[in-house]
Amino acid sequence: MSSSSKPSLFVPDPATLRKSRVPDYDGLYAASVADPESFWGNLAKDLHFTKVPSRILDWNPKTFQGRWLPDAEGNICDNALDRHVREGFANKAALIWAGDRGEEEIYTYGRLLDQTVRFAHVLKSLGVGKGDRVSIFLPPTPAQVIAMLACARLGAIHSVVFSGFSASALRSRLEDFEPRVLVTAECGYRRGKRIPLLETARTARKGLSSIATTLIVPREETSLSLEPGERVLPDLLKEVRFSGSLPPVPVSCDDPLFVLYTSGTTGKPKGVVHVQLGYMLGTYATSRMIFDLRDSDVYFCVADPGWITGHSYIVYGPLLNRATVLLSEGTPEYPDAGRHWSLIERHRVSVYYSTPTTIRLQMRFGETWPAGRDLSSLRILGSVGEPLNPEAWHWFHRVTGGHLPIMDTWWQTETGMIMVTPLPSTPEKPGSAGRPFPGVVADIVDATGKSVAPGETGTVVIRTPWPSMFRTVFRDPDRYRKYWTEIPGVFFSGDSARKDEDGYFFFLGRVDDVIKVAGHRLGTAEIESALITHPKIAEAAAIGKPDELRGEIIKVFVVLHPHATLAPPPHDEIRTHVRSELGGIAEPHEVEIVISLPKTRSGKIMRRVLKARELGLPEGDLSTLED
Ligand code: WT7
Repeated sequence: MSSSSKPSLFVPDPATLRKSRVPDYDGLYAASVADPESFWGNLAKDLHFTKVPSRILDWNPKTFQGRWLPDAEGNICDNALDRHVREGFANKAALIWAGDRGEEEIYTYGRLLDQTVRFAHVLKSLGVGKGDRVSIFLPPTPAQVIAMLACARLGAIHSVVFSGFSASALRSRLEDFEPRVLVTAECGYRRGKRIPLLETARTARKGLSSIATTLIVPREETSLSLEPGERVLPDLLKEVRFSGSLPPVPVSCDDPLFVLYTSGTTGKPKGVVHVQLGYMLGTYATSRMIFDLRDSDVYFCVADPGWITGHSYIVYGPLLNRATVLLSEGTPEYPDAGRHWSLIERHRVSVYYSTPTTIRLQMRFGETWPAGRDLSSLRILGSVGEPLNPEAWHWFHRVTGGHLPIMDTWWQTETGMIMVTPLPSTPEKPGSAGRPFPGVVADIVDATGKSVAPGETGTVVIRTPWPSMFRTVFRDPDRYRKYWTEIPGVFFSGDSARKDEDGYFFFLGRVDDVIKVAGHRLGTAEIESALITHPKIAEAAAIGKPDELRGEIIKVFVVLHPHATLAPPPHDEIRTHVRSELGGIAEPHEVEIVISLPKTRSGKIMRRVLKARELGLPEGDLSTLED
């Protein structure tokens, strides 16, 4: 997906350069890595602390614990909401919500704070306090944002589960996280279709004893018949006594803000743990410098707050910068293919952060959709989730006026913040995610950890700590260690890339058993575990196959139990089975029933061989192949 020939340079126009907060990338980068504590410490001065930090970082290279702002106390909700209200911005729009069925709601900073305080009171009445865990299974609606901020305010730990997950995917996350409260909604909407979230949540939580209460956010006017342990938000809002203002609970540098589950190379998703203060600094600084957020901005990120992009760049980063955030519930093609373009026109969006799959989908629908709308409010574009191929880059650039900078941002759930990216003031190369963000020491190395020469492909690592680095893997410190010991002493990202002579990164894809489908991260082992729960399937292997629209699609190979070979299950049944186990995003696009799978003598499936065969490529070294 990267460009092979020398890419053309896109140099921002002088007006953008002048306006940008980083007019001199090279100078700032050199200074930031020479003295990272001054660089981050200066940015931390913009934030409010109940105990002001006197030190910036304690780094323990033996345990890989980066304790940022180690002697500070503060609260991210205080910085995202209260601070702006205190400073006179209560009437500024904080959140504009565009629902799937055409609903529209606007929350000022004052109203968002008020609703968050009320929600926090409700959680408190359910016994939630500092360090307690709350799972949030809500569609992209204001309630989702409010529930997150309310947890943060109490010093509680949230774990948002994407509302497209199936009951069993939700259940495995609840089993690991063991929340005291599960917040869910009566339903969500997608492409006009009702998504029955409450039913999914009920199936998922059966028999899980940690959950004392399921808190339900209603959507329709109808009254709900409740099961034991369920409460409806409006009822609790009436009951709870709003005595006092419920100030944000000050937390210290080790206190977690959230756990977000993501796919890895084993069957079980891992709970990536982020802490409040460091994460706050990282998301604040990157939102400010990459998207150049200002009071006048209306900022639209197409992600769902259920993923890390939404955590960092819908909820926390933009609100820390006092921007106006547009949150859209639907999909880019509903009610028509002009959904995003008309939202941009209607709300005068100035910063639009999208994904390669969204852009390629819009390309398919054609230029008449953006051409028919007034997009003159736009000033900065962005992309995330998978490599942005040059064709899509050029299309995105052209249909939005041909003069806007595109921030192709590279990062991960684990990094919490954008790590490699252009800035509005730096020249861009289509197909490249630019260079490391100031203060970030990203490198491309060989298997021994030595930097590779420009033009050579290697693995992406981060050499020094960064503020919003994850702190551990929930209940699994060994898995955390693995990130730092794969190549000793540096953070191993699992991505491959090459750099050009100018230091620009070109990302190529994962080097591990992770697939990126339309930007969603899926583990092959996770899909395989789901497949073998089908009564007729004995063994399974999943691979990612290149796809023009979605980057990769999922192809699965299955071996049937002997008893099933005479009556093999239809492919659709196999696909639906995975869908019900994991959710729609994991549904395989192609299924093939095979007699056996290529394996090593020790019994490991050689997915590499399956992939090479599928793509008609050389199969490589087969010396370890069993048969
Ligand atoms: C993986 C992380 C972090 C935002 C959403 C995904 C891929 C992400 C880019 C980019 C090429 C990218 C990588 C990475 N990725 N952004 N700009 N260019 N690849 O978070 O689910 O944790 O996935 O997404 O492969 O490792 P995630």
